Amino acid sequence: MNKTRICIRGTGSFAPEKILSNEDLTRMVDTTDEWITTRTGIRERHIADKDTATSDLAAAAVLRALEAAGLGVADIDLIVLGTATPDMLFPSTAALVQAKLGAAGAVAFDVSAACSGFIYAIAVARGLIETGPYRNAVVIGAETLTRIVDWDDRTTCVLFGDGAGAVVLGPTDDEREICSIELCTDGTLSHLLHMPAGGSRMPASEETVKKRLHCIHMEGREVFKHAVKFMTRAMNAALEQAGMSTDDLDLFIPHQANLRIMEAVSKRMKIPEEKVFINVDRYGNTSAASVPIALDEAVRAGRCPRGTTVGLVAFGGGFTSASAVVKL
Ligand code: UT7
Repeated sequence: MNKTRICIRGTGSFAPEKILSNEDLTRMVDTTDEWITTRTGIRERHIADKDTATSDLAAAAVLRALEAAGLGVADIDLIVLGTATPDMLFPSTAALVQAKLGAAGAVAFDVSAACSGFIYAIAVARGLIETGPYRNAVVIGAETLTRIVDWDDRTTCVLFGDGAGAVVLGPTDDEREICSIELCTDGTLSHLLHMPAGGSRMPASEETVKKRLHCIHMEGREVFKHAVKFMTRAMNAALEQAGMSTDDLDLFIPHQANLRIMEAVSKRMKIPEEKVFINVDRYGNTSAASVPIALDEAVRAGRCPRGTTVGLVAFGGGFTSASAVVKL
């Protein structure tokens, strides 16, 4: 029996209005615009105001994706959301998005895979459409990372930003298709990038707050090395699974964590600069939101006309890595 083929029917993204520039950061910690720009490629990032949570950004991105797909809220059967910064530990942020949208008929839940969360969520949604009673799924990557940043730690606070991206997935009978997905996890390296407190291992206490254990802790240099290795491996594996090579990619959209990481991966894979989509300069690292925001910007900038083959790849805490080859 032939499997149902699944495609991306529409994309959308949303970022909060307020922008924090490198110059602003120089007034907060001991850093310079030059250090941040040359080491990361980041120039500014969006910051959610105090009344805005992850589900708010997510719902706004979904409405744009639905509009692009020509569908309405009532058409959604499934909502899968990747995030490392849920509104709260439970209920899921996806359930809150469902309520916000009034998508009463949709089953909704979160996927926890840090920066790879969006592509993991695509894999889950694709599987459920293929095998279950679902037809139209909304897949979201959404974060308010600036809520878990230690604003006194210059090694991390300059890196992250807030935002959300979403896609609508559904069955297809044209050339559009999710051709392959590759997922990988290495839990032995979880200590290199994590938020130690706030869960069952270390519940919130006065001491955990005082020690800033509810913030992102990262061994930057180690994470950098693994990011290059895992992202290259994941993208190559997804291409092989699709029966394609690097040359078949019209556009490469890597996780926007650091310009130098993206350059290193592209160089290893021999992907020319003009095929690499970059917006880290304007968003910083938005974790699970990074790939879908970049994908939406690429689509809206006219870089993905019908028939374009796009490579998506992400890497993050876990460690997790994930990639997909998609015909748009
Ligand atoms: O999304 C999930 C994955 N996350 C990532 O992919 C992030 C991966 N890591 C990175 O992107 C990079 O490792 C960083 C951007 C975090 C750091 O860049 P780096 O080139 O690896 O710098 P480093 O950590 O080796 O630090 C070099 C120097 C240090 O000073 P010393 O020890 O050489 O005197 C740091 O203290 O730069 C210093 N430094 C800073 N200086 C000015 C660190 N942060 C800053 C800063 N401003 N913001």
